[in-house]
Amino acid sequence: MILSIESSCDDSSIAITEIATKKLVYHKKISQELEHAMYGGVVPELASRLHAEALPKILEECQPWFGELKAISVTNEPGLTVTLIEGVTMAKALSIALDLPLIGVNHLKGHIYSLFIEQETVFPMTVLLVSGGHTQVMEVASLKEMTIIAQTMDDSFGESFDKVAKMMGLDYPGGPVIEKLALKGDMNAYNFTVPLLRTKALAFSYSGLKNAVRLAVEKSDEISYPDIAASFQRIAVKHLTHKLKKYFEIQKPKNFAIVGGASANLYLRSEIEKLLKPHKAKLYVAELKYCSDNAAMIGRVSIEMFEKEMFTPRDTLKTSPRSKL
Ligand code: KG4
Ligand code: ZN
Repeated sequence: MILSIESSCDDSSIAITEIATKKLVYHKKISQELEHAMYGGVVPELASRLHAEALPKILEECQPWFGELKAISVTNEPGLTVTLIEGVTMAKALSIALDLPLIGVNHLKGHIYSLFIEQETVFPMTVLLVSGGHTQVMEVASLKEMTIIAQTMDDSFGESFDKVAKMMGLDYPGGPVIEKLALKGDMNAYNFTVPLLRTKALAFSYSGLKNAVRLAVEKSDEISYPDIAASFQRIAVKHLTHKLKKYFEIQKPKNFAIVGGASANLYLRSEIEKLLKPHKAKLYVAELKYCSDNAAMIGRVSIEMFEKEMFTPRDTLKTSPRSKL
């Protein structure tokens, strides 16, 4: 079995996965959403302290499996440096104490493999990753062959939901809150401009839309918030589907997946489904419980890495805020 640790942002999570069957044997996650809610976003130092409390508590429950472990894996990039270090330090300590090899896992690969925790691996695949830190389209041929096709030039998709929620004085994380509020509003009430509509570039940008929403919020009262939320969500998703449509003119989709925390958004899922229909492409999404950050997805990647002997020596395993796919 492999014990996997995730602490790249505001979720402390540990999983134990059986190598031969790829089966998830144990999984626990302690989220810090409530603690960060009053700040409208993640406060890195607070997150780091909360990981230092939560991870050892979860680890205690894993003791019965210690004798069966063959490796320790941990998210080491990308993420918040001060929170990644909590998981990496615990992983190194365990690797010394139990004399086990270490596997450093890229968090984004974790999101991709969240698709395969409970279903068979499907490659090649076009992947849309939408989270709090990333908005990327990738062509994924295998664990080692991932090409970034498009990414955001500024804010990410999930982050824009968090910021819009904060403008309205709503809770963090903003994604689920805005999605729920949008159900009560008219999505055509506000005609926000779709970002990068006239540029050919396969890229994303959410800062302009965020500022347009800010102006609308400042000019209106709470009664209009559901309309603003619905209109914002429509345009935020339209931006994704517009660029994907352009990309599908060059590269026809076959297997298409949406992963990352914001892949839980049902409006996004249904708009992507519509886009895929004429191409007869299949849409893959992870189970809702595996969309947001968790160690089960890190465990799933580490099984592949274990089989390919992709170990990292203890003294060279470093954290990085950036992703090296
Ligand atoms: O993948 P994740 O848990 O953490 C990162 O790796 O960043 O993603 C969290 C992000 C947050 O920005 C959150 O607001 C967003 O995903 N999110 C959503 C929804 N649920 C979570 N965004 C839009 N709609 C949702 N339903
Ligand atoms: Zn994530």
